[in-house]
Amino acid sequence: MCDSCKKKFYITTPIYYPSDKLHIGHTYCTVATDAMARYKRLRGYDVMFLTGTDEHGQKIETRAKSAGITPQQFVDNIVTGEKGVLDLWKLMNISYDRFIRTTDDYHVAAVQKIFKKMYDKGDIYKGKYTGMYCTPCESFWTESQLKDGKCPDCGRDCQPAEEEAYFFKLSKYAQPVRDLLTNTDFLEPKSRVHEMVNNFIDAGLEDLCVSRTSFTWGVPVDFDPGHVVYVWVDALFNYTTALGFMNDKYDDYKDWWPADVHFVGKEIVRFHSIIWPAMLMSMEMPLPKKVYGHGWLLLDGGKMSKSKGNVVDPQVLADRYGVDALRFFLLRSFPFGSDGNFSNELLISCINTDLANDLGNLVSRTVAMVQKYFGGTLPLAQLEDAEKDAELTTMASELHARYETQMESYAFQNALGEIFSVISRANKYIDENAPWVLAKDENNRPRLARVMYNLLETVRICAGLLQPFMPATSEEIMRRIGAERTDWDSLCVYGGLKADTTVVAGNALFPRIDAAKELEELEKLNAKPAEPEADPLPEPLPPICFDDFCKVEMTVVKVLTCENVKKSEKLLKFTLDDGSGTPRQILSGIAKYYKPEELIGKTLVAVTNLPPRKMMGQESCGMILSAERGEKLQVVMLDDSVPAGARLV
Ligand code: MSP
Repeated sequence: MCDSCKKKFYITTPIYYPSDKLHIGHTYCTVATDAMARYKRLRGYDVMFLTGTDEHGQKIETRAKSAGITPQQFVDNIVTGEKGVLDLWKLMNISYDRFIRTTDDYHVAAVQKIFKKMYDKGDIYKGKYTGMYCTPCESFWTESQLKDGKCPDCGRDCQPAEEEAYFFKLSKYAQPVRDLLTNTDFLEPKSRVHEMVNNFIDAGLEDLCVSRTSFTWGVPVDFDPGHVVYVWVDALFNYTTALGFMNDKYDDYKDWWPADVHFVGKEIVRFHSIIWPAMLMSMEMPLPKKVYGHGWLLLDGGKMSKSKGNVVDPQVLADRYGVDALRFFLLRSFPFGSDGNFSNELLISCINTDLANDLGNLVSRTVAMVQKYFGGTLPLAQLEDAEKDAELTTMASELHARYETQMESYAFQNALGEIFSVISRANKYIDENAPWVLAKDENNRPRLARVMYNLLETVRICAGLLQPFMPATSEEIMRRIGAERTDWDSLCVYGGLKADTTVVAGNALFPRIDAAKELEELEKLNAKPAEPEADPLPEPLPPICFDDFCKVEMTVVKVLTCENVKKSEKLLKFTLDDGSGTPRQILSGIAKYYKPEELIGKTLVAVTNLPPRKMMGQESCGMILSAERGEKLQVVMLDDSVPAGARLV
């Protein structure tokens, strides 16, 4: 079928805040979206899978400032830098079709136009904002929305905020959004509808503050300098600007919009099921067909960000167990619509049980027996049906339909459950038919061939349906069993494998993990100290004029002697060659950071026109320059070739 005749499917993940390192919880949604995109491709759809990064907002501005770099440098490091977001998605085999960064020029320009359009329509107006702001969530809350005085999403403190701001008339859209949620399947799972309607809409939907003036890292409101667009307005429209809405970068908005489904985590369902449709209504744009709010991976019932003794870095986990094992674990172990408790123990046990024992064993035993009893190639003529095979063959031949039902309702865990019940049945079939007994009698060869064929064909169907979850493993299994067709139609028909197929052996697909030993190793890994966070930058000083700067005499000095000052924990006493021929004595409060012997002979810089002062009864004629950031203090050292007495200019 040509691409333009194919049915289309547009699916998105939330675009990530590149403010922290991504953990396994973030990976969850993208892996699920990837599985769905691959499933739809397998079903013959023309798929658009969009992901990206949400790079504006106060949190990023603050983090960049403490790291001493610009916000753009900060996000570039996390998105495109080594082991950044792009590297992670490559590693996890995420088959996205388009990646948007909200700092991309075309997106910024489009958001400005969108904002202006809603303003011109009267749906955005200027007012005054007073309320509570949660910086980490970039969310405004009214007093009544706070939970025990804290942010209802993350439970952290909120700060009172008041400023001139633009507002979006969310209240105007309360009724149509309510109708959308209650009368259609727009939001799933259904359990989330009640929460949105009761807690937010029926509690009174207030107009939404959609601009800020207290920071600058955002899309500027082009008709009112000083205001930047609220990060959620900027972020949500990514789903359309990435298709070319109000920009020339792409031109397939008409082909793809409205999205078939937005996959989002439960804490951002509010933005996607209330604010997003309201803004689209304002823009008179079609609404997405569905928002699916998935659950969270928790650690000991709590948030994942505090790693609490478990290794949650997806790169580390994928390196240790393989990408496919990790992808599989995420979708096999937790029901997509609800929360689940993550632990390294659960991950290891899932790999050992499902992948090593059940799937891995079935493939290796089957291939090994075809090799042992038939030299690797099943004989065509000897195939024979038997009634007692019906249970397995019916299960396998009907698997695609049960799997489809589950996949179409985003029930990944159940879809995998269907596959694994067939895998278990096949392992039992081996034991029931005991090929090693059949092999003892030449007369049983037709029967033995049939048993082996049924096993290979069951493996083919299961591996084919595993493609969306474990693409590389599925391909490898198909190679080992000599399967040529892996398309959907071939997976719906039992008997698709050629009867004289040739198999090839290989290493264990999923080696068994020694759980106790592995958990010990992980514990050691976790004990490694976390990378220290950059200390905050000091407050900037008021400007000075050049003449003031020229008044400071900064002289290059060589350390002749250096010793601790008795009874002082802080002070070091220096005798310095300042080029004048007379040694100069300076006391400096750096004893916490340096041993005297480390500094003798070094070339330093001193301020030499300060009035002498007494410290611990000793005279200090000047000050040694040091660099200070947070707790750390380092003496400014120069190359030894710079002569004593040289002036810093
Ligand atoms: N930038 C917004 C999304 C804007 S979409 C227009 C955002 N970013 S995020 O990086 O904070 O989160 C991205 C996704 O990761 C969210 O869907 C969030 O629910 C999900 N997860 C973050 N921690 C998670 C778990 N522990 N478990 C499952 N998903 C979690 O929100």
